[in-house]
Amino acid sequence: MSFQINTFEAYQAAYDKSVSDPEAFWGEIAEHFFWKRKWTNVLNWNFKEPDIRWFEGAKLNITENCLDRHIYQNGDKPAIIWEPNDPQEAHRVLTYKQLLAKVEQFAHVLKNNNVKKGDRVCIYLPMVPELAIATLACARIGAIHSVVFGGFSATSIADRINDAECKLVITSDGGFRGNKVLELKNIVDDALVQCKSVERVIVLTRSRTPVSMIKGRDVWWEDEISKVETQGNLACPAEEMDSEDPLFILYTSGSTGTPKGVVHSTAGYMVYTGYTFSNVFQYQPDEVYFCTADIGWITGHSYIVYGPLSQGATSVMFEGIPTFPDAGRFWDIVAKHKVNILYTAPTAIRSLMAFGDEYLENKDLSSIRKLGSVGEPINEEAWNWFSEKIGGGEAPITDTWWQTENGGILIAPLAGVSPTIPGYAMLPLPGVQPCLMDENGKEIVENDVTGNLCIKFPWPGMLRTTWGDHERCKKTYFSTYEDMYFTGDGCYRNKDGYYRITGRVDDVLNVSGHRIGTAEVENAINMHSDVVESAIVGYPHSVKGQGIYAYVIANHHGNEDETKQNILQTVTRLIGAIAKPDVIQFVDDLPKTRSGKIMRRILRKIAEGDTDNFGDTSTLLDPSIVEKIVAGAKEQK
Ligand code: WTA
Repeated sequence: MSFQINTFEAYQAAYDKSVSDPEAFWGEIAEHFFWKRKWTNVLNWNFKEPDIRWFEGAKLNITENCLDRHIYQNGDKPAIIWEPNDPQEAHRVLTYKQLLAKVEQFAHVLKNNNVKKGDRVCIYLPMVPELAIATLACARIGAIHSVVFGGFSATSIADRINDAECKLVITSDGGFRGNKVLELKNIVDDALVQCKSVERVIVLTRSRTPVSMIKGRDVWWEDEISKVETQGNLACPAEEMDSEDPLFILYTSGSTGTPKGVVHSTAGYMVYTGYTFSNVFQYQPDEVYFCTADIGWITGHSYIVYGPLSQGATSVMFEGIPTFPDAGRFWDIVAKHKVNILYTAPTAIRSLMAFGDEYLENKDLSSIRKLGSVGEPINEEAWNWFSEKIGGGEAPITDTWWQTENGGILIAPLAGVSPTIPGYAMLPLPGVQPCLMDENGKEIVENDVTGNLCIKFPWPGMLRTTWGDHERCKKTYFSTYEDMYFTGDGCYRNKDGYYRITGRVDDVLNVSGHRIGTAEVENAINMHSDVVESAIVGYPHSVKGQGIYAYVIANHHGNEDETKQNILQTVTRLIGAIAKPDVIQFVDDLPKTRSGKIMRRILRKIAEGDTDNFGDTSTLLDPSIVEKIVAGAKEQK
């Protein structure tokens, strides 16, 4: 018995039921999981506070669902196949039995280091199996993990650690990414200068990068494991968690201020990621599934770790980058591990497409059955290339739309079951009630319309709060439209009712599938002592989807190029290389309204090269500024 829907008619029936009787619908799905105690109430909610509770009164541990319950029948099935950065290095396979043993061992390490239920643990590791192990070990003992992507800087880590008051940090000496070695431990050392809450740092050996270990604070992962082995008792019973106990915090960028800690709770997240994984990818028990995301992002949390493992899947985890040692690496991995389902991002597809089809020659892609895309709108050209070259014209593509805050996929075709159109996420999954809103806060009910995408009704995987600041959660997501979750995305619904996401309608950029707040980048640039003011906008970029365009007013103390380099370094130091502007244009002034607001609409148009018609500029304080910026912009390209 399974909750997987295999026909379009069954999808329609499930969808109808999920709307007419959501509690009965989700209650039946939840029966497919292992509970220490069942719920008394499926759902209690209001979007005003917001206060959302799923499977109230139930007790469980997500790791029993991801690990223990598969041991009897599938203990020897690979849970994780790990492919290293360097293809010369041996890959690793962890069966469900082995993964459980390692998670239990490391759970003991956490306990030995004074981590208790409810404590926050920051994980800053490269894409090695120990990242999944550490994550699951936190969940095993009820500690709340906060995974920070390995590309973030010391300052970003410190901000995240301080916001969540993490007690412990798990990192490695270094990490491999293509030709580069990331000095993770050294970066953590820099971060911790500013962090009072951290008592302990556990350091995994990966790259043999020299590190300094601070007495009383830093311990080696391997030594701690030896201690547990000497202690002898290796099993670690799973902590009993309440449905609504937080499982993890994941920081994400918004249109204002510093990144928010999105909080996901235990039961709803588990049910939602498991259900959506099984259905969207139509996962079959013998299939090998490869999601190319990093566990530092939500896609990795939900669709490398929790979703696939709760469904007993075999999940491939890749340490490196798609272009190392060359642009054929993904296809080598597909052939080597006989990958059946490949889930990746449009930016990767576009970049590999640009390298040319010679990297596909002689690659055996015959194992591919289904393809998935996530993170940003996929253009038709990339969709078609993916379909034809990688899918052999036969593998269905599921374009999955969702967000960190959603926990799991909200709008997507079920692979091979639902119809598809290039560039369309198509239809909502069962349990998801999207709607389009107009500028005046009214729902648009017709088809063939564009509007702001909202969700009317809770789904189990949605965020519950933003860490330490519930008001911010309310304001960001539940105040724009009454009684609705506002996504921040614009969306077109075609005449047949199919959804196409058009991109963010707020000041959030999507650069190579990474969410970056314009305010965050501006704040970083403004920290540079030569900078007076700056404004960031996005512009279309052929590989990254969006590029970052910075308009900067600066006092130069050298030549402009030096200032540019210094600004780029500042951004890298304060946020990370992913937030570096692609273009920096120095300007004398910024176009502002009489009330001092920067007119970003105009700056966006200039960055896009669309300078024929700026629309209404009558509120500008000094219209001549625009002409000067346009002239300067022409020199940039
Ligand atoms: C965008 C990633 C179009 C969207 C899972 C959203 C997409 C933001 C798609 C969330 C898609 C994600 N088509 N746009 N299939 N998937 N997006 O939080 O703008 O990193 O709001 O979550 O990415 O990014 P996040």
